[in-house]
Amino acid sequence: MNRLEIDELIDDPGTRILVCCGSGGVGKTTTAAALGLRAAERGRDVVVLTIDPARRLAQSMGLTELDNTPRRVVDVDESKGGSLHAMMLDMKRTFDEIVEQHADRERAQQILDNPFYQSLSSSFAGTQEYMAMEKLGQLHATGEWDLIVVDTPPSRSALDFLDAPQRLGSFLDGRLIRILSAPAKVGGRGALKFLSAGMGLMTGALSKVVGTHLLTDIQTFVAALDTTFGGFRKRADATYKLLQARGTSFLVVAAPEKDALREAAYFVDRLGTERMPLAGLVLNRVHATRAGRLSAERSLAAAEALAERADGESEQPADPVGDDALRPADLRLVAGLLTLHAERLRVIDREERTRTRFTSIHPEVRVAEVPALPGDVHDLAGLRVIGESLGTG
Ligand SMILES: Nc1ncnc2c1ncn2[C@@H]1O[C@H](COP(=O)(O)OP(=O)(O)OP(=O)(O)O)[C@@H](O)[C@H]1O
Ligand SMILES: [Mg+2]
Repeated sequence: MNRLEIDELIDDPGTRILVCCGSGGVGKTTTAAALGLRAAERGRDVVVLTIDPARRLAQSMGLTELDNTPRRVVDVDESKGGSLHAMMLDMKRTFDEIVEQHADRERAQQILDNPFYQSLSSSFAGTQEYMAMEKLGQLHATGEWDLIVVDTPPSRSALDFLDAPQRLGSFLDGRLIRILSAPAKVGGRGALKFLSAGMGLMTGALSKVVGTHLLTDIQTFVAALDTTFGGFRKRADATYKLLQARGTSFLVVAAPEKDALREAAYFVDRLGTERMPLAGLVLNRVHATRAGRLSAERSLAAAEALAERADGESEQPADPVGDDALRPADLRLVAGLLTLHAERLRVIDREERTRTRFTSIHPEVRVAEVPALPGDVHDLAGLRVIGESLGTG
């Protein structure tokens, strides 16, 4: 296996943006936070952009409110001259900020008050991905940090992070929206009377479905948006370029499970097509490598034999010395332990096979492994442990 040297990556001054991607629940947020902390304690000025971190993890980084600006994390070892800032993405606030930056006060207010804008900015699928990229662009533009670590939204598929902004862009620039907003744009122009009438008919039918009020809202919203931004898609394209820029690296986080690794393999291919540099794969929550010599088969056989013997015996040992001093309950306990041991070995085996399959498809991809810790990771100490295993393996 081709090892991913995380410390080389985070120590390299040429590494400016690290994006942690992966399918839902694999450990993106944890990895992003752990990398940020490690890089800061090794001397870099880091900001971590997290998305929906678990509450306790957020608290441990001093993130108690969703205020959309980076906060300095205390209790970080700054003796090497580095520092750590962290923030939670506030999707709606980021969207509002774009509006405020690009429209005059009156128009901005008009957009912000529009109910269609309100539902779009807080719930449209893809908005979170888009806003994460937008925020990354903003953080980058400040030039304040020498390393930005980005977490990505909890989407089902890692590919969503790359696809969603384009999708949102095409939705906003798209045909449906053009039709909806047509009367607002073409109304009153003589030459387009015929077209206008056609649009009128169409929106007439539409208004029956979506309601006149909403339709008017959508029309004003889109018209205002169009004049203020000149196209969302263009904006999405610009942010997308940052991901291809020098200094940006992707880390694909995956659990050592079939589905997660299949996803990861797709994602690796996709990064290749998009010319986005992959630093490597973080295999998270790996179970320890084979311990002891008792095989799964022998454990199970022994467990079965013990259970059988337990079934055939009375609750009180006839002879209180030697082997027979074990009661059926004790025998069952040992049988249970042996079964657990066998199951663990099988998990380890399965993980190993899955990993081998991945590395045979993508032998060029470097891999760093993080063991499964016994409990959740919800404080700086836990993040350090993750960082340590990322760094030194
Ligand atoms: N190596 C590990 N050992 C033990 N627990 C872990 C490990 N990595 C992550 N966890 C725990 O797994 C849970 C999910 O992790 P995390 O929130 O980082 O995943 P995620 O990919 O960001 O999820 P989502 O897709 O929902 O955003 C958390 O409770 C976290 O503490
Ligand atoms: Mg997360």
